[in-house]
Amino acid sequence: MKIAIMGAMPEEIAPILEKLGTYRTTEYAGNSYYEASYNGVDLVVAYSKIGKVFSTLTATTMIQHFGCEKLLFSGVAGGINPTLKIGDLIVATKLSQHDLDITAFGHPMGFVPGGSVFVESDKTLIELSKEVAKELGKTVQEGVIATGDQFVHDETVKNNIVKHFNADALEMEGGSVAVVCNAMDIPFFILRAISDTADTDASFSFDEFMESSAIISAEFVMKMVDRLAK
Ligand code: ADE
Repeated sequence: MKIAIMGAMPEEIAPILEKLGTYRTTEYAGNSYYEASYNGVDLVVAYSKIGKVFSTLTATTMIQHFGCEKLLFSGVAGGINPTLKIGDLIVATKLSQHDLDITAFGHPMGFVPGGSVFVESDKTLIELSKEVAKELGKTVQEGVIATGDQFVHDETVKNNIVKHFNADALEMEGGSVAVVCNAMDIPFFILRAISDTADTDASFSFDEFMESSAIISAEFVMKMVDRLAK
């Protein structure tokens, strides 16, 4: 089995690369891809760069060029649901694009003809995450993740995203990765640890907690890989 592990920023995949020990680096379409054999499974690890376009390119490359059969995303997110505190883990049950807007033509936010407002994550991988959480004695909240090409640091923007999508967290890549995997029939799993709460202090909080939250998410994803390797 070949598994893709994606992040958006170098800090999101660094803890994963550390665990691999040795890996082979391939440059493709303007990005670096790190291939390794880990406990009997083939892994392809990469960070896409921030945003929906770069993450679409990377997810597509991992599936089409490298032949990955499952995709796990690890990274950080802004918390919307007040129950989510810095460092808490959230797994996406479904994802949307909060900045996809053709409401001028009577469509709901996040919808374009031929698509859907939400894309659901793979239920088997979510079940596996519950088992891993139980094993580790960790809480992993399930919820809706909204994705858009903006770093949200404003209560009004945040409240609008809640209004349209009832989202629990927001970030900048999950929704586009979900669209790619869904279209290509690849089971996917999006995990995020909270780095900020998308309010006026978000950029400061992000700078302070991004690295530590990225480690929390990466460590959990690697525990899932351990289970998938069994
Ligand atoms: N990723 C982490 N925090 C974020 C925020 N506030 N907005 C968008 N993406 C994020």
